Amino acid sequence: MVILATGGARGVTAAILEDLAGRCRVKVVALGRTALERTPPELLEMDADSLAAHEAAFYRNALARKDGSTIKDLKRQFQGHVAANEIVQNVKRFRSLGGQLDYLAADLADGTEVDRAVGAVLERHGRIDLVVHGAGTQISRAMTGKTVAEFDSVVATKLAGLRHLYQALARRGLAATVGVHILTSAFSFWGNDGQPDYGAANEALNRLAEAMAAAGRPWSSLAWLGWAGVGMTRGSEYAALAEQRNLYPLPRQEGQELFAALMGGTPAHAANILATPREIAYYRVPVLEESRAPRARIAPIELSLERAGYLKQHLVAGFPTMPGAVELMHATHTASALLGDSPGMEVRDAQFLSFLKSHPGRDGRARVIAKAEAGGQGVRVAIESDFVHPSGRVLRTDMRNFEARMLPLVRPDALPDEADELSRSRPGFFVLDPYVHGPGHVALSGVFDCLRNIAIHELGQTATFELSPELRSSPQAALLGPAILLDALWRLAVIRPQGSRIPLYVPVRSHRVALWTGHGAGGTETLHRLAGARLIATRPEPVAGSPASVLIRHAVAVDAQGSVLVANIDILATTNS
Ligand SMILES: NC(=O)c1ccc[n+]([C@@H]2O[C@H](COP(=O)([O-])OP(=O)(O)OC[C@H]3O[C@@H](n4cnc5c(N)ncnc54)[C@H](OP(=O)(O)O)[C@@H]3O)[C@@H](O)[C@H]2O)c1
Repeated sequence: MVILATGGARGVTAAILEDLAGRCRVKVVALGRTALERTPPELLEMDADSLAAHEAAFYRNALARKDGSTIKDLKRQFQGHVAANEIVQNVKRFRSLGGQLDYLAADLADGTEVDRAVGAVLERHGRIDLVVHGAGTQISRAMTGKTVAEFDSVVATKLAGLRHLYQALARRGLAATVGVHILTSAFSFWGNDGQPDYGAANEALNRLAEAMAAAGRPWSSLAWLGWAGVGMTRGSEYAALAEQRNLYPLPRQEGQELFAALMGGTPAHAANILATPREIAYYRVPVLEESRAPRARIAPIELSLERAGYLKQHLVAGFPTMPGAVELMHATHTASALLGDSPGMEVRDAQFLSFLKSHPGRDGRARVIAKAEAGGQGVRVAIESDFVHPSGRVLRTDMRNFEARMLPLVRPDALPDEADELSRSRPGFFVLDPYVHGPGHVALSGVFDCLRNIAIHELGQTATFELSPELRSSPQAALLGPAILLDALWRLAVIRPQGSRIPLYVPVRSHRVALWTGHGAGGTETLHRLAGARLIATRPEPVAGSPASVLIRHAVAVDAQGSVLVANIDILATTNS
């Protein structure tokens, strides 16, 4: 794995990467401003204690030269030598562990230098798998006492630095695929004396990680506690403050293990804030009571045509069939009992494995099985069914129809740029819903006849959603309303004429669906907001090696106020027509 690590040759970032090198094969290129050639070789080779002992002699010798340097200049010079020495010693230690660490001098605030550094890494290693953005500076002083230059440099290292890296990757077509992990600060999250600039920059980075992850990008951030004597907290000042406030200075090894655990799995959330009971007490962090929600739940799904009459309006190959979107809504309703009443739900990696059909005269049985993840924030959900003979004999049990992972969603998604651009473009022409106006192996009617003004644009498709009176008055409206909207959105996403024909598709996989109600699952208020929703879907893309499949990058439903009700990323659909 090739890692480009800003700030990676010093402090906390060097510590976590060094530990990673002991666990797997990594090649790291670390960036920092310090130019090694400015430090005399004998100072580079000293160990940290000898260099500290040499400080007084360094000032004495320098002042004896009488070249006009002030003690302030010399202090800055010596700090530069200490930084260079730390880099050289870290590179040596890293290599002794079998890892490869190269150091490049570049200022992150300078876009040209960053671009050159990214180019150099690609030239040397041919790839970049992960960017670890650890560079940072902070100056603890009241805002009124800071200079604009100080403020700028604190913010620029964190924010402009990441922007420059992203742009350098984007120029080479790598921005969508390279993973990004950002080091931020737990103290910034709560607010810390004298660090509003540092705090705001870190919090912006946390939000950025969340937004990018929500768009399907492999981004994450971890807001660290103060480390015990590593990096910015290496002096005695933080140790004294931590003691006075009874905070928990993070031991080096514990920090390394935390990072390795994060890198070894998939974080439940993109932005992660560390806290121990001590920080929770000092910063008065409000903590939700431990959930008393059950750990697992099984709920039946109604398949009889008498009680689930809408199935007769959704025929696949002539059989009443449950739309995948209704399966997904059944799954979210069952999962919400385990997740608590969250204002939104994120459905990850949904798979539609086999159709759930209703056979007239047969008592089909299906159920949602939801289990809270051990130690995780999510719920694993599956839908299973039994195949029952008209005589009542169960011919096959526990057939898997659907599975997904559910997580609570704390804020609605933003409208993706691609969908925004498409919705502003001029439509080329309009079509009728081919699933309603057939003929085809999927035939819809009644509550499913809800797509209006289906417009084909260069970049994709748009439509409006009509909520039928039949659906409004249905006793299952709270479940069916959002499900039928989602079904319509997925349909719109694949309505793309090929010559005189519009092939019909069914969804097989969906990477991420964000469902936002704003006030707990279901409810009449939600239904009200669905009426007249604007649906936007980017043009289906071919899938290499699978001519019957298409991939839709974004499909979004927006209410009359412009809020995103449903956002989908990467839906895979197949056709047999
Ligand atoms: N130490 C802690 O307890 C702690 C706690 C919470 C969060 N963090 C976070 O952890 C990260 C690392 O901090 P640290 O404590 O390890 O600090 P550190 O030892 O001072 O290291 C900071 C690194 O960033 C580099 N850097 C700063 N400005 C730069 C720029 N404009 N361009 C390129 N490189 C730049 C520095 O290199 P040069 O000086 O050579 O430029 C150095 O390698 C930071 O993002 C910090 O916010 C640390």
